[in-house]
Amino acid sequence: MATQPSAAPSTAEVTDRRHDGARLLRGAPIAAEIRGRLSGEVSSFTERHGFPPTLAVVLIGADAPSAVYLHQIVRSCRSTGVTGRVVEIGARVTTAVVRRRIQELNRDPLVSGIIVQMPLPRRIPLRAVIEVIDPRKDIDGLQPENAGLLTLGYEGFLPATAQAAVEIVKRSGYRLEGLDATVVGRSNVVGRPASLLLQREHCTVTMCHRRTRDLAGHVARADLVVVAAGSPGLITGAMLKPGVIVVDVGINVVADGIVGDVHFDSARQVAEAITPVPGGVGPLTNAILLEHLIAAARAQHDDHHTSAPPRPPAARAP
Ligand SMILES: NC(=O)c1ccc[n+]([C@@H]2O[C@H](COP(=O)([O-])OP(=O)(O)OC[C@H]3O[C@@H](n4cnc5c(N)ncnc54)[C@H](OP(=O)(O)O)[C@@H]3O)[C@@H](O)[C@H]2O)c1
Repeated sequence: MATQPSAAPSTAEVTDRRHDGARLLRGAPIAAEIRGRLSGEVSSFTERHGFPPTLAVVLIGADAPSAVYLHQIVRSCRSTGVTGRVVEIGARVTTAVVRRRIQELNRDPLVSGIIVQMPLPRRIPLRAVIEVIDPRKDIDGLQPENAGLLTLGYEGFLPATAQAAVEIVKRSGYRLEGLDATVVGRSNVVGRPASLLLQREHCTVTMCHRRTRDLAGHVARADLVVVAAGSPGLITGAMLKPGVIVVDVGINVVADGIVGDVHFDSARQVAEAITPVPGGVGPLTNAILLEHLIAAARAQHDDHHTSAPPRPPAARAP
């Protein structure tokens, strides 16, 4: 059965229905709406405190998808008056040095948010790096305290990509309650938090990974498929239920450019709606990160001035 939007899209330009296929769920118009709202908040924060909210992006070594993403984040920061500070650390650095550098950023009062660009070089354990980020500056919600809050359904910073994957569907007018959702990928950065957020939206969630026996079967049953595997063309149109909503989080650099994890041309013939890559989840992720950064900056600084400091973006308890 086809999945129909429950209401008109919140922003008319969010989508662009192709006569020959699925409705395209684009992140940029939603991101522009968010950034427009944030610009005013950034100006008033800067006026109040004499410095703009600052995001520190820790980059360890060079990696093609990371470089694309980093470029987008810094551009997105500038467009709203936020300072984006790239903290480059050489690829040969030790884990101890990375941890020390993050601890310095934790102590820097001008820095309100810290993100660590992934993937890390193999010999640097992710956990050893993210666990030192101050939870109040962990605007990508990866630090164990924030991850625990998400799991329990309490307020805390949410992983921005996972939040964007859910928001792009909601903001396009689709009602998530009761849908069978299949999430392909179980990373702490995308798949796992996306599945938790979908449960909060009252979806029935199936999580798939490399050892899933019947990936095609789980995908075929889903009303909503979220794919975050890092495997180009993993999900094809032939695997999808007609009328499904497809959120492609994958970013893969291939000879022809950047593609997602979904075979776009075949999937769009079957789906009700699909996020393009590039242009889907990615731009919205950046805007959500900025939203988190400004919430973090206000929570860290405004509490000296107001009786009720803003909290990080909340996630509703189920
Ligand atoms: N749009 C954005 O803003 C954004 C942000 C972050 C990441 N990304 C992209 O999203 C993708 C996923 O990122 P990630 O950090 O979550 O990657 P990751 O840590 O490598 O995790 C990939 C997950 O996908 C599963 N998987 C991989 N190949 C599979 C297959 N053939 N069948 C079933 N499951 C498979 C893995 O299963 P196992 O657990 O069994 O290994 C794992 O759980 C990447 O392309 C990344 O570039 C996009």
